[in-house]
Amino acid sequence: MMNNISELAYFGGEPKFKEKLFVGRPNIGNRDRLLERINDMLDRRWLSNNGIFVQEFEQRIAEHLGVKHCIAVCNGTIALELVIRALDLKGEVIIPSFTFIATAHALQWQEITPVFCDIDPKTHTLNPWRVESLITPRTSGIMGVHLWGQPCDVETLTEISSKHNLKLMFDASHAFGCAHKGKMIGNFGSAEVFSFHATKFMNTFEGGAIVTNDDDLNQKLRLMKNFGFAGFDNVVYLGTNGKMPEISAAMGLTSLESLDEFIEINRRNYYCYRDGLADIDGVSLFPVNDTERHNYQYIVLEIEEEKTQVSRDLLIEILHAENIIARRYFYPGCHRMEPYRSYFPHAGLLLPETEKLTQKVLILPTGTAISENDIHKICQVFKLAIASSYSQDKDLLKA
Ligand SMILES: Cc1ncc(COP(=O)(O)O)c(C=O)c1O
Repeated sequence: MMNNISELAYFGGEPKFKEKLFVGRPNIGNRDRLLERINDMLDRRWLSNNGIFVQEFEQRIAEHLGVKHCIAVCNGTIALELVIRALDLKGEVIIPSFTFIATAHALQWQEITPVFCDIDPKTHTLNPWRVESLITPRTSGIMGVHLWGQPCDVETLTEISSKHNLKLMFDASHAFGCAHKGKMIGNFGSAEVFSFHATKFMNTFEGGAIVTNDDDLNQKLRLMKNFGFAGFDNVVYLGTNGKMPEISAAMGLTSLESLDEFIEINRRNYYCYRDGLADIDGVSLFPVNDTERHNYQYIVLEIEEEKTQVSRDLLIEILHAENIIARRYFYPGCHRMEPYRSYFPHAGLLLPETEKLTQKVLILPTGTAISENDIHKICQVFKLAIASSYSQDKDLLKA
């Protein structure tokens, strides 16, 4: 038990952890089962091009989500790019700025302008009323992001997109295994996109998937992800290489078998953090709606410096010194990164909530690599750093 600020590694004490604890350390399912699958794959000598693991993976995902089609691809970014092109999006598309940069890049890569919209500070997702105010004659679509697995206001966005004849799609990279009003994420808009990157709740090393209930879109996407090939020597469409390799699908199938265990551990961790960080003035844990299915993959704190008297960034430095590699996601917001910063130097004026949130968010490690005991220790460090700011050591912390 640490009681004194001088015990913090930031001030010269021993780091609380010998090895670094990272946000997004991969969840790994049954290793033997994975290796068995890899062996089968090698025996078959079928490593890519819609192999049997990819086919099985697509079928399992579609079943799990209750959606008609799943198209497995090599990563979430390509999945976004494919949907954007298949939906024929053009001109401007409204997205949040508070998201991973790939959401914006997937549009700009195709010379479509991402129009950054502010978020609702309660849900961290698109504020639908702000969306409506950004629609212009050039707008072709809206792309919501179910950030942290928190569903967007799907109903209002659907209403707005129908009213203005716009396409609606979702970047659901964070939301595999989450539900909205009893329906699994994957069933909303024209299509939804998942990332199965190594840091995600469920991973395929690198990978992603598009899910849709639209038969035509499914057909189109399948052609597009495979250079437009409709059979040997027969290219019928413009396409790219978005194929998921067999080894990724082998990992995906193995991860799917451990999904309940991943959720249970994440859930345990979430409550452990919630108890450990309760009642700290100025620190709030982003809430999870327990009445819906959720993956609990992100431990998202908001730090209000006026109350904690320690800045979010100083807290991160203190945690890093202890080998707790906390992160500030999605700082400083897409609109403050290139090329958008140069294109739209004043975008921040329309994004007051995004600007505030990027200064407050702090992400802590969770997942199957983190134990309850780790969390108790992380919470101790956290509390000591904050409590100390009120003590005689305040000057030390401010130094
Ligand atoms: C919100 C969001 N969108 C898109 C992506 C891109 O996915 P990928 O890394 O699989 O390309 C990610 C994660 O990396 C993400 O967090």
